[in-house]
Amino acid sequence: MLRSTPAVLAVTIFHVASAAKESCCDALTASRVAGQVTYPGHGAYNASLASYFDGKSRLPPSCIVQPRTAEDVSTIVQILVREDAQSGSCKFAVRSGGHTPIPGSNNIENGITIDLLYMNTTTYDADSQIASIKPAARWGSVYQTLEPLGRMVAGGRGSTVGVGGFLLGGGISHYAPRVGLSCDNVVNFQVVLANGSIVNANKTSNADLFTALKGASSNFGIVTRYDMETFESEDLWGGIVTYPASTANHHFRALANFGSNPDRDPNAALIVFQGYSTASPTDVVRAAFDYTKPVVRPDAYQEFFEVNTNISDTTKLQPMSAIAAEFGSDTTKRVQFRTLSYKIDLATLQETARLYKIVITELQAEASGQWRVSCLHQVWATSYTANSIARGGNVLGMERYTENFIMYQSYLSWSESKDDELFIGLGKMLTDGIQKFAREKDTAIDYLYLNYADKDQDPLSGYGAGKVAFMKAVAEKVGKPQKDDPLSVFDDTNNLSENKTEDMDFTVLNLEKPDA
Ligand SMILES: Cc1cc2nc3c(=O)[nH]c(=O)nc-3n(C[C@H](O)[C@H](O)[C@H](O)COP(=O)(O)OP(=O)(O)OC[C@H]3O[C@@H](n4cnc5c(N)ncnc54)[C@H](O)[C@@H]3O)c2cc1C
Ligand SMILES: *[C@@H]1O[C@H](CO)[C@@H](O)[C@H](O)[C@H]1NC(C)=O
Ligand SMILES: *[C@@H]1O[C@H](CO)[C@@H](O)[C@H](O)[C@H]1NC(C)=O
Ligand SMILES: *[C@@H]1O[C@H](CO)[C@@H](O)[C@H](O)[C@H]1NC(C)=O
Ligand SMILES: *[C@@H]1O[C@H](CO)[C@@H](O)[C@H](O)[C@H]1NC(C)=O
Ligand SMILES: *[C@@H]1O[C@H](CO)[C@@H](O)[C@H](O)[C@H]1NC(C)=O
Ligand SMILES: *[C@@H]1O[C@H](CO)[C@@H](O)[C@H](O)[C@H]1NC(C)=O
Ligand SMILES: *[C@@H]1O[C@H](CO)[C@@H](O)[C@H](O)[C@H]1NC(C)=O
Repeated sequence: MLRSTPAVLAVTIFHVASAAKESCCDALTASRVAGQVTYPGHGAYNASLASYFDGKSRLPPSCIVQPRTAEDVSTIVQILVREDAQSGSCKFAVRSGGHTPIPGSNNIENGITIDLLYMNTTTYDADSQIASIKPAARWGSVYQTLEPLGRMVAGGRGSTVGVGGFLLGGGISHYAPRVGLSCDNVVNFQVVLANGSIVNANKTSNADLFTALKGASSNFGIVTRYDMETFESEDLWGGIVTYPASTANHHFRALANFGSNPDRDPNAALIVFQGYSTASPTDVVRAAFDYTKPVVRPDAYQEFFEVNTNISDTTKLQPMSAIAAEFGSDTTKRVQFRTLSYKIDLATLQETARLYKIVITELQAEASGQWRVSCLHQVWATSYTANSIARGGNVLGMERYTENFIMYQSYLSWSESKDDELFIGLGKMLTDGIQKFAREKDTAIDYLYLNYADKDQDPLSGYGAGKVAFMKAVAEKVGKPQKDDPLSVFDDTNNLSENKTEDMDFTVLNLEKPDA
């Protein structure tokens, strides 16, 4: 029953049977959280579905439960575990901001979605300088709360993105070069475990769980509060500059020099990306410059500034909340993210551009409606490692890398469901093509960033065998409803070891009876 395939960790705490029985929703409706349960046809149910970032992720669960407190979450978990033991199957999914564009990752068909919607406040304690943030807060609201207090956290770059999933997958903020990954800025997680207990996980209490939560997403429990380190809030100099596509090579060279500079200014964040949109159908290259001190046109970006033919430029001194609003996105389209990593290498960057062009040409011929393609290059810095180790470590396996590399994200969005296959297929072709080139040129890096990974990608295995063993040990420890429960924590129900695409919902918490 137990099978040790790394990817399996990505799927289950609890093993699962097939379809959720209505009795699971009935049990919730018969409990003290009855008023928090909403069914198909209801306004709250519709609103929950409509608020998923990705249009194709709006799966219809049997019911949605919207807890207000950690105690509510505990009650819900206990009811579902008990009901599962009695009736055979109460499969559930957890949702915070709902921004991961993988159907089944943050919701579920024939099951229960625990939608943390109402758990969205941010509070600040001046003595400890810690911000306590509830999982379904959106980063824009976090910044709006902290800025008037003169404080800031290393959170998401887009205002609409949720806190919950972002922090469990790592989290790259504009402040990352300065303070490391966002997950490493968490000093304490409040977590509801499989047995319903509400625990703290921090450097001194449940230290192994604390480390595992930083990168392994939802495989250990439901996080009900994130306590984060803060720092002084200052205006940033930042925005997005758009250039003609003909300047791509200059930008790639500048990116390579910027990314491999050992003395890089830790205040300088950067994303270089190519983009095409039917809304303004010109092929362009963009740079998002975000300097985390109030310095106009800082020297750190000097080589980029050599290009003086920009098409538009939104850079200015502005607070983080304003920068995040510019990065915010609506929830109207169908979306695919994919990722891979490669060494800082000009030829590999150029190959990404060649394949990107092929994809655009193909889409111009085949796609309908409104659509957009962006291909983003970010520097993954070795400095993240030191920041992490000093604060209790994470599970990303970053210490294996002694040189900065490029983390790539393809981001496709489109309006027509009939084009799902076209976009999903071309997006995969793009990353497969880059991967093939990088492997041949020996510039491939095995790392996959979980928050940008697609369904068929396997980010947890990419953290390395040692981390997988560690995550399994932690899940074995905290993932059972009862101490001597025979429940299999890792099982082969989902056949992930065979890379079965349809089963890669790496974030659904599954409940099961041992022999179901
Ligand atoms: C427009 C946009 C911009 C983005 N920008 C960035 C960026 O700047 N940097 C970056 O690193 N990433 C970025 N991302 C990726 C983002 O980090 C992930 O999509 C992240 O999962 C979003 O968090 P969420 O709470 O909205 O996720 P959800 O979709 O709600 O959840 C994601 C996963 O985490 C699990 N989960 C959520 N909350 C909890 C919880 N409380 N306890 C246990 N499990 C939980 C869910 O079950 C789900 O599997 C961006 C994504 C989008 C769509
Ligand atoms: C919810 O959506 C369904 C399906 O679109 C619709 O029939 C129903 O009237 C909606 N309910 C409310 C309260 O808006
Ligand atoms: C929290 O969510 C509720 C319900 O959607 C919303 O009315 C409220 O404005 C949100 N609060 C914050 C701080 O975002
Ligand atoms: C760590 O958890 C313990 C036990 O719950 C708690 O007393 C302590 O305050 C926590 N530390 C932090 C930094 O939150
Ligand atoms: C973009 O072009 C404008 C107009 O020429 C110029 O003022 C601005 O400095 C340029 N931006 C950058 C980042 O070079
Ligand atoms: C719940 O599980 C945790 C982790 O295994 C354990 O420490 C705790 O004692 C359990 N609580 C109860 C009430 O059994
Ligand atoms: C997993 O694979 C095995 C062998 O191919 C198959 O018999 C089994 O039904 C599969 N299980 C699921 C849940 O798909
Ligand atoms: C997933 O597929 C890839 C490529 O086919 C393969 O190399 C890898 O070993 C597979 N992963 C697992 C866990 O089977």
